[in-house]
Amino acid sequence: MHEALYENIPGGARWRYVWGSTLVFTFTIQVITGLFLWTAYSPSTTTAWESVYYIQHHMQYGWLVRGLHHFSAQAMTVLLALHLMQVVIDGAYKAPREINFWLGLILMQIVLGLGLTGYLLPWDQKGYYATQVSTEIMGATPVVGPQLQNLAQGGSQYGHHTLTRFFAMHAGVLPATLIAFLALHIAVFRRHGITVTNPDRAPATAFWPDQVLKDGIACLAVLATVLALTIFKGAELSAPADPSEAYSAARPEWYFLFLFQFLRFGWVEHQGLAFGAIYVPGALMAVLVAMPILGRWRAGHAFNVAFLMLMMLGIVGLTALALKNDSEDPDFLAAVHQAHEDSVRVVELAARPEGIPLEGAVSLMRSDPKSQGPRLFARNCAPCHRYDGHDGTGRKITRKDAIVEEVIERQKDGTDKKVKKIVGYKPPVEELATATDLGNFGSSEWIKAVITNFKGTFSALENVKDKEGKLAESSKRFLEGDMSGWSASHAQLWRVKENEQALSDLVAFLHSQGRRKGAPGISDDASKRGRQIFETGKIPVGAFETNCIDCHSLQPIDEDKLLGEVGSGPTLTNYAGKNWLREFLQNPGHEKFYGSKNAMPAFGERLTEKELDLLVRWMVGDYE
Ligand code: HEC
Ligand code: HEC
Repeated sequence: MHEALYENIPGGARWRYVWGSTLVFTFTIQVITGLFLWTAYSPSTTTAWESVYYIQHHMQYGWLVRGLHHFSAQAMTVLLALHLMQVVIDGAYKAPREINFWLGLILMQIVLGLGLTGYLLPWDQKGYYATQVSTEIMGATPVVGPQLQNLAQGGSQYGHHTLTRFFAMHAGVLPATLIAFLALHIAVFRRHGITVTNPDRAPATAFWPDQVLKDGIACLAVLATVLALTIFKGAELSAPADPSEAYSAARPEWYFLFLFQFLRFGWVEHQGLAFGAIYVPGALMAVLVAMPILGRWRAGHAFNVAFLMLMMLGIVGLTALALKNDSEDPDFLAAVHQAHEDSVRVVELAARPEGIPLEGAVSLMRSDPKSQGPRLFARNCAPCHRYDGHDGTGRKITRKDAIVEEVIERQKDGTDKKVKKIVGYKPPVEELATATDLGNFGSSEWIKAVITNFKGTFSALENVKDKEGKLAESSKRFLEGDMSGWSASHAQLWRVKENEQALSDLVAFLHSQGRRKGAPGISDDASKRGRQIFETGKIPVGAFETNCIDCHSLQPIDEDKLLGEVGSGPTLTNYAGKNWLREFLQNPGHEKFYGSKNAMPAFGERLTEKELDLLVRWMVGDYE
């Protein structure tokens, strides 16, 4: 105890000496919380996410343990930067302490390695895709790159062995090396003592109690910050990793963002991955390693301090730029939004009494209408339709036109030839929809709009032009068709106050057919009255020229008889409900639907039975 506590500190205890202690403190938190996490974590592709979900949502105080581990790891990188700056500014790296400075740099690499390997362990979308960037960087290492990447991944692709290898590094190799180097670092530090820039500042004191008090307060402040982040923010867990589901919200941990941003600059990209991700960081590291030697001269020390400050400024600047670029990128923001929705949704699904199936939590997402519906819509329907103005997943549909120029290019045989080449892209413009927005399809507002303002509801069809730039024939068939004409010639009737109730009854009747959530029941008074109007066309003021039933057949649910005959309009049996939609999507050109005027592709063969079911259930809101 005496040996440990009564170390002499010339010039008195100071706040600037606390960083080393806070690092030891946060590392201790990591070891303790890490062991607790280990008691519940299970590294395999079908159990990693699931066990982290268990820790986060079911284990007693699991969220607290995981949060502390998560945020202390980030605190360590910040404290490392502060420690490094203090050491360089105070010249504590100069002889005879250069060995210890180098030990410190090795410790820094190990801590960054721990952060990198830990990011993958939850096996969630975020970690899965962000870590692939790092292993690709490994693969760009000169000479041994591919072998190195193979070794880290445990194969040519990501899989189970990537997880077990990263776990062995994260919980075995790296902490053991860190402890060994830390012991050396502290032993060497005690041998040389603290570096004091100005010993006459105050009378000398001992480590205990003055410096210990300051260190203790600093550690408590770190703990308070980490706790506050755990309680108010909490460690994230995104949806389980799914190799078949691209994830454009992937970003590395924030302390690697600067590198990510650097690699995104056009001129850096142009030089190749090895240049930006290995040579440049390697050169910066080399300067850090050379600091003790440069520091032997007065000018060298000044250079070191200036260099480190500039480097830190550069890192902060690049990080800020990365955040700014991302916050201005609508596609990225939409991807983040979707990722967030998924992370909330998968927890909802996992919390059902059935729990997580043996195949793992990915299968929960893959068979969930709420998460798959928007994606299926984006892929299959968004080329023509919109969903509340976007593609279903929240992205705007934009087009980036290429700028093509003729350039002269030397051919292989030595002759020159004019070729067209893409030299850049124009700023993206929003692509116009060519079919209706289906965001409120089947709702009572939708039905009301179709009846009272058909042309307006289907106005997106006006964007379809033929070769001469005139309204396309297919659109004309709809915009100047029976329903459009009917809607226009009866529009006046709906402006009469006495007919208000009749309209809402008619809407209620059609709405009840879909049997959607929130729709009135079939036998409600309103839908009964609506059915009368549908069949007879009797309304308080005026009358229909042709009745709905003359063009639309309909078989009310729970009844055998078909009202009307298949006419010019689509059959409205179960209109906008699950069965109607499924049949319609399978073949919209069937005579029951649009018949010969149909302009929409049939999806009966383009989508599998399961995909169709997921899409339809999402559109009608039939999911838990
Ligand atoms: C090639 C363009 C195109 C694609 C792709 C397309 N549709 Fe359509 N769809 C149309 C046209 C045109 C109509 C009829 C007029 C209209 O709705 O604007 C229509 C009509 C509909 C209707 C009837 C309601 C209405 O607006 O009249 C629904 C529902 C519908 N589509 C759903 C889908 C779904 C779901 C997908 C994706 C699986 C899809 N469509 C893909 C062009 C398309
Ligand atoms: C003269 C025949 C005719 C009459 C009368 C008629 N419709 Fe239509 N309706 C059509 C046709 C045809 C379409 C398909 C769109 C088109 O081709 O214009 C249609 C489309 C619709 C749709 C949209 C289907 C889709 O694409 O999603 C609804 C809803 C509808 N009609 C309801 C009614 C109601 C309610 C009435 C009575 C108030 C009515 N229709 C009267 C012919 C008619």
